[in-house]
Amino acid sequence: MPQTVRGVVSMAVGEPVTITDVVIPDPGPGEAVVAIQACGVCHTDLHYREGGINDEFPFLLGHEAAGVVESVGDDVTEVAPGDYVILNWRAVCGQCRSCLRGRPQICFSTHNASQKMTLADGTDLSPALGIGAFVEKTLVAAGQCTKVDAAAPATAAGLLGCGVMAGIGAAINTGGVGRGDSVAVFGCGGVGDAAIAGAKLAGASTIIGVDIDDRKLEWARGFGATHTINSSEGDPVEAIKALTGGNGVDVAIEAVGLPVTYRQAFEARDLAGTVVLVGVPRPDMTIELPFIEVFGRGGALKSSWYGDCLPSRDFPMLIDLYLQGRLDLDGFVSETINLGDVEEAFHKMERGEVLRSVVVL
Ligand SMILES: NC(=O)c1ccc[n+]([C@@H]2O[C@H](COP(=O)([O-])OP(=O)(O)OC[C@H]3O[C@@H](n4cnc5c(N)ncnc54)[C@H](O)[C@@H]3O)[C@@H](O)[C@H]2O)c1
Ligand SMILES: [Zn+2]
Ligand SMILES: [Zn+2]
Repeated sequence: MPQTVRGVVSMAVGEPVTITDVVIPDPGPGEAVVAIQACGVCHTDLHYREGGINDEFPFLLGHEAAGVVESVGDDVTEVAPGDYVILNWRAVCGQCRSCLRGRPQICFSTHNASQKMTLADGTDLSPALGIGAFVEKTLVAAGQCTKVDAAAPATAAGLLGCGVMAGIGAAINTGGVGRGDSVAVFGCGGVGDAAIAGAKLAGASTIIGVDIDDRKLEWARGFGATHTINSSEGDPVEAIKALTGGNGVDVAIEAVGLPVTYRQAFEARDLAGTVVLVGVPRPDMTIELPFIEVFGRGGALKSSWYGDCLPSRDFPMLIDLYLQGRLDLDGFVSETINLGDVEEAFHKMERGEVLRSVVVL
C-alpha cells in the first residue's frame, strides 16, 4: 500500500518551499523505503529552489540524511528493515566503463529508485540528487543506503551524505592532501569547513581559510584552519603568498562556486599545485584564465563531485573517526529544526548565520 507522508517541496523557481503530502510507493525490486531521522540543509537544496540545477519542478528537497530502513523490495540483499543507514547519491552500478576499470568512486551510471514519489494529485516529484529527504519517509535505490554504526546520532551521521563528505573528500580524495602540505580553502561554509577538517585529518601543516564573513572564519579555526583571511578586506592571493614564503599553497580548494573565487584559487597555488573545484557554479557562469599560466604552472585543475567518495568505503570509516572523537561532525550542526523551518533555514544560510541547519523528524 502506498503511504502518504509530509515533505518539503519546491513547486516553482524562487518560490518559498511548502510542506505538502507526498505519496511513497511500496519499494519495488532493488528499492528501499527509509524512515528519515535527520536531514541537513545543503546549499545545493537552495540551488534547486532557484532553478540553478535544472527545471524539473516540483522538487522534493533534502538529500543529506540518515534514517532506518523500513521496508525493501524483491532482490534487495545489501540492506534489511531495521538497518541504520546514511543515504548516498552515488549508488554504483558495477558495470559501467569506470566501475569495470576498478574506479567505482567515479561510476558513470549511478542509479536511483525507478518508481516515482508523487504529490497527492499524482504529479511526479523530482527528488533532490535522487534522494528527497525533507520528508518523513523516502523511496531510494537500495544501493543508496550505506549501513553505519548506529551509535552515531542521525544529526551528525546524515551530514556525511552530502556536504561534509564532499568537503572532506575534496581535500583527501580529489586534492590528495598529505602530511606537511599547505592548503587554502575558499568559502568556509559547511563544505569548506569540512575540507579544512579533511586537510587536518590528512596532516596538512598550513591550512588557510578564506571567506568574506568573519563569523565563518572563526568557525573555520575551530575545524583546524591555522590561518584565516577575510577576502573582502584585501587580496587573498597576496595574503596566501605571504603565509607560504611567497609561493602559494600545494592544494587550493574552491568551495563557493563563483568565477572570482576559482580565479583566486588558481592564482594562490604553488607551482605544480592542485586546484579542486567543489563549489557548484550556476549554468550561465563562464571563466577566463591566462592560458599560458594554465600550462606554465603545471599541476592539476580538478573538479570534485561528492568528494570522489565511495560511500561503502568512506562513510563507515568517517563514522568510526567521529565515534573516536577524531572528526567533529557535531560542530557542523548549528541548529536542529522542524520540516516547517526549511525556508527560514535557507535565509539563515544566505545571511551566513549557520553552517548546517538540520531537520529532525
Ligand atoms: N561538489 C559537490 O559534490 C558538492 C556537494 C555539496 C555542496 N556543494 C556546493 O558547495 C558550495 C558550498 O556549499 P555550502 O553548503 O558550504 O554553502 P554555504 O552557503 O554554507 O557556504 C558558502 C560560503 O562561501 C562564502 N562566500 C560567498 N562568497 C564568497 C566570496 N566571494 N569569497 C569567499 N567566500 C565567499 C560564504 O560566506 C559562505 O561561508 C555550494 O556551491 C554547494 O552547492 C558541492
Ligand atoms: Zn558504474
Ligand atoms: Zn548537498
